[in-house]
Amino acid sequence: MHSVLKMQNITKSFPGIKANDNISFELRKSEVHAILGENGAGKSTLMNILFGIYKPDFGDILLNGEVVKIKGPNHANQLGIGMVHQHFKLVKNFTVTENIILGIEEVKNGVVDLSASRKRIVDLSEKYNLNVDPDAVISDITVGMQQRVEILKMLYRDADILIFDEPTAVLTPQQINDLMLIIEKFTKEGKSVILITHKLDEIMSVADRCTVLKTGKSIGTVDINKTNKDELSKMMVGREVNFKVKKGLPNIGDIVLKVDNLNLKSATSSKNILKNVNFEVRAGEVVTIAGIDGNGQSELIYSITGLIQGATGNIFVSGTDISNMKVRNRTLTGISHIPEDRHKHGLVLDYSLEQNLVLQEYFNTKYQKKGVLDFDEITKNAEELIELFDIRSGRGPRSIVRSMSGGNQQKAILAREIARSPDLLIAVQPTRGLDAGAIEYIHEKIIQERDKGKSILISSLELDEVMNISDRILVMFEGEIVADLNPDKTTYEEIGLFMSGSKRGVSNDQK
Ligand SMILES: Nc1ncnc2c1ncn2[C@@H]1O[C@H](COP(=O)(O)OP(=O)(O)OP(=O)(O)O)[C@@H](O)[C@H]1O
Ligand SMILES: [Mg+2]
Repeated sequence: MHSVLKMQNITKSFPGIKANDNISFELRKSEVHAILGENGAGKSTLMNILFGIYKPDFGDILLNGEVVKIKGPNHANQLGIGMVHQHFKLVKNFTVTENIILGIEEVKNGVVDLSASRKRIVDLSEKYNLNVDPDAVISDITVGMQQRVEILKMLYRDADILIFDEPTAVLTPQQINDLMLIIEKFTKEGKSVILITHKLDEIMSVADRCTVLKTGKSIGTVDINKTNKDELSKMMVGREVNFKVKKGLPNIGDIVLKVDNLNLKSATSSKNILKNVNFEVRAGEVVTIAGIDGNGQSELIYSITGLIQGATGNIFVSGTDISNMKVRNRTLTGISHIPEDRHKHGLVLDYSLEQNLVLQEYFNTKYQKKGVLDFDEITKNAEELIELFDIRSGRGPRSIVRSMSGGNQQKAILAREIARSPDLLIAVQPTRGLDAGAIEYIHEKIIQERDKGKSILISSLELDEVMNISDRILVMFEGEIVADLNPDKTTYEEIGLFMSGSKRGVSNDQK
């Protein structure tokens, strides 16, 4: 197959870092070409250059053999290049159709002609089984559908080089399967796909080739049918990666978190979002909440951490009733929270890394000197956490978090919340967006906290993660906890049956 795209000797520096260092990359017609690399390796940067967001300091881009200078995203679109970003870029209060045509509206007699565009969107949606409602408002639709709107945006512009930057990080397993089928359909039609993902199973199942980046450099490109997961992770991290965390039997102590008959009514319908939720997490155990997205897990966690009010029932941490406390007081009672939405609840994007690393503690005497902030101490804390959690960025403690790579932003939150070592660590999708080596490290850290006698409550959509780190698995379905399972005595299939509501009410872990 001939190549549709060549990037040659691409180099791009940011203050303090060479994000891309002499990278060459070739995309063939009708292939799925995966890009794999550690957090901060330069994957998004390389694709942002291809999409015209950054200009390379050095190097050429050739499309169908001809050198092009890509002036910006609109120009990239005109050249047939489309991109779905790591963080979506949709206007929340616009409809699907309005978002898709934004910037290339068709005008008839001086007004925007929505009907022709709408028809085209419906046709494209049907053709690729995207199931998108053209009239829905973005803020009302699920993350999975928002992503399909981004895909439609590319198709609407007739892109034939499609870039996906970590498309599956925010999707549920079912949505991931659907996306893989859509990607296969694209390549059958002659489109070419670049897929950035940290999930090696996805690479093995859909990609034809994989290029591995490491600290800004290309390590090489391999054929997928001549490699395997272990070899890919070794190429990327430079050592073997353990996908299964080593852990002994838990040494279980007193009750730390007690959730007592929690109920939450929906603001918009008569449905109950949480129904009689009762459970405990004891010192020294990792309890995981599994479930299909949207079965009340987020609201349960938000109710415990105080981000939403309105649930009836009681929540106790180490015997203290925190049900009516403000977020700050709950934190001080001994809760750490790694939130689902890292941009909304986890970080202040325009603050520096060192400032973000003390958001929960800057008011403590440790960081105060004669009533003002002790910046030396704040920097020292950052230096320690950067080293311990391997947080990579251009300017160390002084990096602005917005400019950091997605995975390193996540590592910053993990570092801050885990290092506080509170009695109760609550983590939602803790390893979202992390590379395989970083996931291994975080899982080890979580088990270390457990073995120090801390309580861990995790909510995760990824069954592999659930099976890997839990001592106990609670399955949520339609706002209820329908199972309390011992991971050693259950199977993926059984959990799946509970998650889908086909099985309920029994426990294999009679205590
Ligand atoms: N706009 C920017 N300003 C300053 N530094 C940046 C900018 N964009 C990226 N960087 C730096 O360049 C490096 C590469 O970042 P990039 O986002 O390309 O990584 P990545 O491979 O996509 O990682 P991840 O898997 O975490 O998404 C990082 O160290 C990041 O801090
Ligand atoms: Mg990235």
